[in-house]
Amino acid sequence: MGCTNSHGIEKSVIEYPFASIEKTVIPLTEDQIKIVRETWDIIEPHKKEIGVNVYVRFLSMNPTLKASFPDFKDISVDEINQRNSHPRRLMAAIENSVNSLNDVETFTEYVTELGRRHSRYSLKPTKAYFRDLEKAFLRSLKDHLQSCWRVEVEESWVRLFNFMACIMLKGLSSKT
Ligand code: HEM
Repeated sequence: MGCTNSHGIEKSVIEYPFASIEKTVIPLTEDQIKIVRETWDIIEPHKKEIGVNVYVRFLSMNPTLKASFPDFKDISVDEINQRNSHPRRLMAAIENSVNSLNDVETFTEYVTELGRRHSRYSLKPTKAYFRDLEKAFLRSLKDHLQSCWRVEVEESWVRLFNFMACIMLKGLSSKT
């Protein structure tokens, strides 16, 4: 893929008219899915360090949340490194989502269930936390992809992250 222009992180809004698994359509074009897959191939070998980066950024924005993550609560933000499992779990969930982008039902069921599991934690993720996590995630991807970061790359990942956040929030608020 062409890797020439860089672009700033655009503001995004977590909004998707999620009705039900059956009626859901993946809100990424074929081209955007291709971009997500191509850039994931670049990210994949470095997903552990990128995951750590995401969390360092996210917890710097929300220092009080550190206590809610068992892996992080007894260490300083600076000490978050590859030994911590949570960044790996986040990146594994993103990878599973990227891999099921061609199958809306699998994707939606997986992400809804992920959201539902989050309702068991004492810390309930809100839209604002998802937005901060998204910012941290995009910034970490941008740092890693450098010259491969283009406006189309950003738009594609924003779409995917937003879609995941909306479905997770829906799963979080469901009773089953
Ligand atoms: C796209 C967004 C997110 C993804 C993909 C994600 C993914 C995950 C995964 C895979 C786990 C491991 C447990 C499981 O599979 O159920 C987990 C745990 C957890 N997540 Fe998330 N998460 C996201 C957003 C958030 C947000 C916004 C918050 C709160 C601000 C949050 C808080 C937590 C907490 C507190 C745990 C339990 C930690 C632990 O036991 O180590 N997550 N998340």
